[in-house]
Amino acid sequence: GAPVEVDISDVKPGEMKVAEWRGKPVWILRRTPEMLATLKQNDSLVADPDSDKSFQLDVPKYAKNEFRAYAKHKEVLVVVGICSHLGCSPSSRFTEGPQPNLPDDWHGGFLCPCHGSTFDLSGRVFKNKPAPSNLDVPPYMYLSDNKLLIG
Ligand code: FES
Repeated sequence: GAPVEVDISDVKPGEMKVAEWRGKPVWILRRTPEMLATLKQNDSLVADPDSDKSFQLDVPKYAKNEFRAYAKHKEVLVVVGICSHLGCSPSSRFTEGPQPNLPDDWHGGFLCPCHGSTFDLSGRVFKNKPAPSNLDVPPYMYLSDNKLLIG
């Protein structure tokens, strides 16, 4: 499939946009400073904090850190919105705190409706969940500060 250009100038902090690449949903979330601050705390709770394991795509070098993003644009998360267990589409749960099917100390992330895998705001899977790996980060680059080229 051809690379896809995505304008992210309309994605405000705390908001997510869905693009499509190779027939798959690609989530683009602009994280707030508060959201970013939760990620380091999750390092000991997620199964693969530095994304050493890949799912369907090789892990890009820029995704091997807790932000799973380029350092210059670390607030912007770009991941394929497909659960690494059996391919369901997780839903976003950005509200912190106790809520159904989530731990009391939930800091925001994603929940797979099929078998309960949970992912943090970098798409990293929490330990002891059926999903074997983090959500895929696609290959992408910045054409400008607000324009991505995915693929
Ligand atoms: Fe997501 Fe099974 S498909 S947990």
